[in-house]
Amino acid sequence: MYNCICQIVPGLFMLLNLVYTQDCNITVHDHLSEQVKIADCSKRGFSEVPHALPRDITVLDLSGNKLRHISNYSFENYSLLHNLSLAKNKLHIIEDHAFYGLSRLKVLNMSENILNLRYVYTPQMLLPLQNLIDLDIRRNIPNQPTVDLYHYPDQAFAVLKKLEFLALDMAPNPIFGIGFQGLKNLKSVTFEFCFLKYLRGYTFENFSSNLDELKLTRCHLNFSEVENNALVPFPNITKIHFEESCMHLIGALNMLSPYNGKTIEILNFRGLNCPIFNSKEYPFALTITSDMMRHLKTICVEVLDLSDNGIVDFDENSLLLFDRTECLKHLYFKGNRFAFAYGRHMDELKSFFNKSVALKTFDYSYIPVRFKLKEKDFYHQGQDYHVSNNLVYLPRSLEKLAMSNIICEDIGRIFYIRQGSNLTYLDISFGYSNNAVLFEVNATNKVETLVLDGHFHWTLHQIELVNFINVKTLLWRNAGLDEFMMRYPPDDNLKRFIALLRKLRYLERLDISKNSIFNLPENVFFNNGHLSELSLSNNLFQSIPSQITSNNNMKSLDLHNNLLPTVDHKTRVWADLMNQQHGLYFLLDGNAFECNCDNLDFIKWIQETKVKLDTRSYKCTLLNGSVITVLEAYEQMHDLFSGCRNSIWVMVSSILIGTGCIMTLLLVIYSRRWNIAILFYRIFRKIVEKKYGKNYTFDVFVSYGGDSIPWIKNYFIPKLEDEWKLKICIKDRDFYGGHSFYDAEAESIENSRHVIFLLTPIFKVSQECLFEIDRVKHEISMRNLENIIVISKDTTLKGITEGLTHIWNYVLFIQWLEDCNDHDFTWQKLRKWICNDLIS
Ligand SMILES: *[C@@H]1O[C@H](CO)[C@@H](O)[C@H](O)[C@H]1NC(C)=O
Ligand SMILES: *[C@@H]1O[C@H](CO)[C@@H](O)[C@H](O)[C@H]1NC(C)=O
Ligand SMILES: *[C@@H]1O[C@H](CO)[C@@H](O)[C@H](O)[C@H]1NC(C)=O
Ligand SMILES: *[C@@H]1O[C@H](CO)[C@@H](O)[C@H](O)[C@H]1NC(C)=O
Ligand SMILES: *[C@@H]1O[C@H](CO)[C@@H](O)[C@H](O)[C@H]1NC(C)=O
Ligand SMILES: *[C@@H]1O[C@H](CO)[C@@H](O)[C@H](O)[C@H]1NC(C)=O
Ligand SMILES: *[C@@H]1O[C@H](CO)[C@@H](O)[C@H](O)[C@H]1NC(C)=O
Ligand SMILES: *[C@@H]1O[C@H](CO)[C@@H](O)[C@H](O)[C@H]1NC(C)=O
Ligand SMILES: *[C@@H]1O[C@H](CO)[C@@H](O)[C@H](O)[C@H]1NC(C)=O
Ligand SMILES: *[C@@H]1O[C@H](CO)[C@@H](O)[C@H](O)[C@H]1NC(C)=O
Ligand SMILES: *[C@@H]1O[C@H](CO)[C@@H](O)[C@H](O)[C@H]1NC(C)=O
Ligand SMILES: *[C@@H]1O[C@H](CO)[C@@H](O)[C@H](O)[C@H]1NC(C)=O
Repeated sequence: MYNCICQIVPGLFMLLNLVYTQDCNITVHDHLSEQVKIADCSKRGFSEVPHALPRDITVLDLSGNKLRHISNYSFENYSLLHNLSLAKNKLHIIEDHAFYGLSRLKVLNMSENILNLRYVYTPQMLLPLQNLIDLDIRRNIPNQPTVDLYHYPDQAFAVLKKLEFLALDMAPNPIFGIGFQGLKNLKSVTFEFCFLKYLRGYTFENFSSNLDELKLTRCHLNFSEVENNALVPFPNITKIHFEESCMHLIGALNMLSPYNGKTIEILNFRGLNCPIFNSKEYPFALTITSDMMRHLKTICVEVLDLSDNGIVDFDENSLLLFDRTECLKHLYFKGNRFAFAYGRHMDELKSFFNKSVALKTFDYSYIPVRFKLKEKDFYHQGQDYHVSNNLVYLPRSLEKLAMSNIICEDIGRIFYIRQGSNLTYLDISFGYSNNAVLFEVNATNKVETLVLDGHFHWTLHQIELVNFINVKTLLWRNAGLDEFMMRYPPDDNLKRFIALLRKLRYLERLDISKNSIFNLPENVFFNNGHLSELSLSNNLFQSIPSQITSNNNMKSLDLHNNLLPTVDHKTRVWADLMNQQHGLYFLLDGNAFECNCDNLDFIKWIQETKVKLDTRSYKCTLLNGSVITVLEAYEQMHDLFSGCRNSIWVMVSSILIGTGCIMTLLLVIYSRRWNIAILFYRIFRKIVEKKYGKNYTFDVFVSYGGDSIPWIKNYFIPKLEDEWKLKICIKDRDFYGGHSFYDAEAESIENSRHVIFLLTPIFKVSQECLFEIDRVKHEISMRNLENIIVISKDTTLKGITEGLTHIWNYVLFIQWLEDCNDHDFTWQKLRKWICNDLIS
């Protein structure tokens, strides 16, 4: 008995060890002609360093576990490690010999722990890490330290002689002691969680003077007082990131004295303006003076970001005057509040652009300056005003121009793009200004991305002039495109739009979401051969535009937040095909899907298709109004929709049981009739949706029962055809044999502008009538039901099925009173309805 247990227990232990090692993914790669063996143990719930990993691993990722402390000799058996990540744990204690054996380690990541910088690190602990190059211990001080002077562990860090990259947090009043002199190879320092209050001239004095990159970002808890000589210890720096630190642009610019006449690659001074600035010395609304620019002016800077600094104006020869304008490659003025006024401002801008021969990016977006006020009219300029004064030539080197979201209603400014320009990206979305971007002939040939969100008129007029033949991405969201898309007959804007789409032969991505479009004009096509990403989301589509299925390259189709009740069969087949060929991402969430008998195919398809969908549990509405998900509908199909199949079930069972030929025959006819009716209804629905933008064969299609034929012959036809000169379609006269009745009827309705139901006693009880009314009721949400007119003749409303009362508000109803002698008024009414949109 005892023996037994004793044998089992070691077995269990071994098993546990095995489980641990299996938990980590061990992979071998070739990296720069070296073999690296990676142990991926991230997010496995470890609370201590796993012991049983292969001894020759070179990379160990233990991030996202539950480690609280690292004990002595934890890594002694992994002496080949050169990358070790302990990020995102709960580390707060590291024992002195924890890193024993890691003499080859180059990268150590302990970010996002709770290691106290001031106490945890000792020289003994870091001593084994002789070859460490990259130490990441940022995000370890979650709250503002309360101590007055925060001494960084300089003696401990001093042993890291090879360190090049250091990332850590910044205390309010930091002291970097003499030990930092030991980090002679330090190239890049990043401060991440930043509580900085004081940056003194001596703060960085013990850092290596070879430093190349300093990131001191998001120090926005307090105003950071910076002394002008704080950067003097870094004479060779080429990348300075101060973005979102509340040190004020004036403070940052004043620190640049060590770099007079030198070259700096990146100067990121974005968002140094904070609401706490409210004094004369540090004003919230800033006017740039030439004194502030005295250092920056002399620097050869490649990337200059002055976004979001509350700049409202600039003095003469300040913001736009650089000794070496030709150095500038990327310039960001985004989110300030200054404009280029007539006269000096414009002249300086023109001369600036003339000299910036290497400029690739110019971002002057999100600039609110002046709203349009009615009483102010800038169009009547002074005597010497001439349009050419406000013509600004942009440099040919410019590749990206962002002038979106500008509100500046004063003078017109014309930004002129010349032939041979390198412009590839143009964003002129939203905003309200008299600024215009004009292109010389063939100057648009290189444009690949066009962002036109928020507008349509003005842009469209330009489009005739230019030739965006190489555009690959067109974003035209939120631009009220429905204004002309829905117009019938097509107006000039629609023609321009269609012409534009035709021009964009290489278009790959088109986004026209948020435009309230519910129908695409018939001649808008998407089969240009390259289009693979289309977004029609946040519109009002009630059916998927049929043009889409003519495209063979679609990889992403976004139709979420529309009013689709279903996805039709043709689209589903197409989607499966697209997915088979090159994968398809199909977004459909937020539509008005219906879970009813008509839609069972769709519900099944959603669960069974291999197309990548945004979800498989779209909301859908049951006939009784309850909302469930299509997944629930699929799972409970049997219970929810058993009614749908009753007839089929009866039929099948009757065939099986063989209760008699007559019965079977009847059922077959009955169920077929139902199928035909459904088919007819589907076509009918499509027709109503397609009515926009069509050339109709008939003005009116009349649906009626046999008892009204004399009336139609004697009154209706003479009135509409002979007197009003309308073309009407009457099934007994205009349908020919050979064709199936339902097909012919469907086709005729499709080609008719209006549909009139003549409601007579016989028609009322006919299957057709019941079916159609039921369907119309079903479709009350559709907008185009105004095309349906019901004339009730020889019958009162009383007997009409309850169904019709539901659609009351959506059809035009005429009661034909037989005993009334004067029908003129009724005819007039009808004429008005039928002819109204013919006239307009
Ligand atoms: C481990 O690696 C395999 C193969 O690369 C991968 O399929 C699996 O998802 C990985 N397991 C974890 C937990 O990352
Ligand atoms: C390292 O390996 C030795 C020999 O297999 C073993 O005794 C020791 O416990 C291991 N150390 C750790 C920390 O796993
Ligand atoms: C780890 O090593 C240090 C230094 O030798 C020693 O002071 C400490 O007690 C050791 N920790 C444990 C848990 O043995
Ligand atoms: C080692 O870490 C560095 C820095 O995190 C990373 O760039 C490098 O790709 C890592 N090497 C491997 C093999 O994971
Ligand atoms: C350290 O890990 C964090 C979290 O995974 C990551 O964001 C950071 O980039 C890593 N640092 C380095 C230097 O790779
Ligand atoms: C830098 O080192 C010197 C000694 O060389 C020391 O006097 C000074 O206090 C140190 N600076 C800081 C900020 O600790
Ligand atoms: C700055 O860099 C240059 C060359 O890159 C080098 O010659 C010079 O010694 C560096 N200056 C300092 C103070 O390190
Ligand atoms: C610095 O920020 C903290 C946290 O927002 C605040 O409590 C403190 O008063 C600020 N100190 C100064 C000097 O602004
Ligand atoms: C800028 O260049 C254009 C064309 O090259 C020239 O017509 C114009 O006079 C120049 N403007 C200034 C201010 O130098
Ligand atoms: C336009 O781009 C090409 C290719 O990058 C470059 O050779 C050319 O110099 C650029 N033109 C201008 C005016 O910068
Ligand atoms: C514009 O480009 C087309 C085709 O590249 C060329 O035929 C035409 O001559 C160019 N027009 C001008 C004014 O350069
Ligand atoms: C609608 O029908 C479903 C399924 O038959 C049922 O679960 C739900 O309670 C009904 N809702 C209402 C409001 O009657």
